Amino acid sequence: MRRKVIAGNWKMNMLPDETIKFIEEFAPLVKDTENEVILCVPYTDLFYALLTAQNTNIKIGAQNMHFEETGAYTGEVSGKMLKSINVEYVIIGHSERRQYFNETDESVNKKIKSAFKYGLKPIVCVGETLEQRETGKTEEIITKQTELALEGLTNEQVENTIIAYEPIWAIGTGKTATKEDANNSIKAIRNKIAEIYGQTIANSVIIQYGGSVKSSNAKELFEMSDIDGGLVGGASLKPEEFSKIVNS
Ligand code: PGA
Repeated sequence: MRRKVIAGNWKMNMLPDETIKFIEEFAPLVKDTENEVILCVPYTDLFYALLTAQNTNIKIGAQNMHFEETGAYTGEVSGKMLKSINVEYVIIGHSERRQYFNETDESVNKKIKSAFKYGLKPIVCVGETLEQRETGKTEEIITKQTELALEGLTNEQVENTIIAYEPIWAIGTGKTATKEDANNSIKAIRNKIAEIYGQTIANSVIIQYGGSVKSSNAKELFEMSDIDGGLVGGASLKPEEFSKIVNS
């Protein structure tokens, strides 16, 4: 059986002192969970988060990285740099990065390869816009994004990639996909992986749902056959609320 992975995506929120306070409060609330718990924090909080989360079951991730190892890329941070301070996870291709920072399927693919090269575990986001959904293109879009993201990876790397299905219209809007819709989209992604890499690998890939997950809807979503946890934005900023999601 696949494990459940619940990751918080803090986006551009939280200062170091808030990060330390959050983790001190949050850690005891989730210490008994069997689910994997990850906090993806801003670069400036990484070091504090890693220190505070030592000796807990909370894992720490970044929210982006550059695909090159070093070089003249002002303002960027590489996978090698993240690994050097023991960051374990990295979100790649979040829709906000695709929308505001020109992230493309090609750069997403390069970043995933670079993440694996430096021993980071990627959480790769795919998802359709409202227009794409309304014109019946959801499945086509998300399976294509998945295929391009995973292109050229080894079977083992595919198995170790976490995919987050996040319908863009559901992010930060309070609108959640119905559990059936979310499950069907995730099944479509899994079928595409099976088509290319085989059913055994497809069965072991963790595929999360993201988009307005909160404590009131987490349980019904996570109970679905193909939803292996969630990528949580707004509701991951409050220790108690996020702990309820993790413990769902
Ligand atoms: P949300 O964000 O939970 O605030 O909708 C999810 C995400 O963007 O990962």
